[in-house]
Order: sequence, then C-alpha cells, then structure tokens
Amino acid sequence: PFVVTENCIKCKYTDCVEVCPVDCFHEGPNFLVIDPDECIDCTLCEPECPINAIYPADDVPAGQELFVQLNAELSKAWPVITTRKDPLPDAKEWEGKPGKLDLLER
Ligand code: SF4
Ligand code: F3S
Repeated sequence: PFVVTENCIKCKYTDCVEVCPVDCFHEGPNFLVIDPDECIDCTLCEPECPINAIYPADDVPAGQELFVQLNAELSKAWPVITTRKDPLPDAKEWEGKPGKLDLLER
C-alpha cells in the first residue's frame, strides 16, 4: 500500500483524497492516513500531494518507517474523507519542517 508520511502533519492539503478510487483516506485533526487494507496501489494519489508526503510503504524516506504502522493504526480510528477541503491555516509555514511527528494530534 501507499502511506502518508510526516510532511502532511500540520499541512493536510487533502488534494489526495479526491482521486482515490477506493476511499481509503482517513482524517485526523492535523494529518491524513491511508488504510493499508483498502489501498489497491493504483498510485493516483502520490503525484496529487503538493508537498510529496505520499510514498509506497516499501519506499518511505529514511527515518520514516514508523509511518507505515501509524497509517495502519490510525486508519482504524479515524473517519473516511473523500472530499477535498481547505488546508490547515498555517500549512505554508509548516511545509517541509522536520520534527513534525511530535505535533501529531490524535
Ligand atoms: Fe487510494 Fe490509489 Fe492512493 Fe492507494 S494508491 S491510497 S488506492 S489513490
Ligand atoms: Fe496530506 Fe498531501 Fe494529502 S499534505 S492531506 S498527503 S495532499
């Protein structure tokens, strides 16, 4: 499956959700995740993210391996999102910032 990684935290642009044919994105307060049990590896969402937060599970950026498990876990707790919405208000400022995992809200 594909996974959402750290750069999505505190940005949440949501362009990704519109293209998913199987509705596997789930929304938390400041992050989105993909349900690995639903994702069919169609690859459509990957280029939609304006800040490149989406990767194949077997090719996540170094140090972000824990996001594979995090997507699996949080997708069971959070509701599905299928319609794009406005990004978080400070999204621009948080793009590409390191250490955002500590700011993940559940
Ligand atoms: Fe959905 Fe396809 Fe992205 Fe998987 S790869 S999350 S099926 S859009
Ligand atoms: Fe996050 Fe990118 Fe989607 S910022 S909400 S993965 S478009």
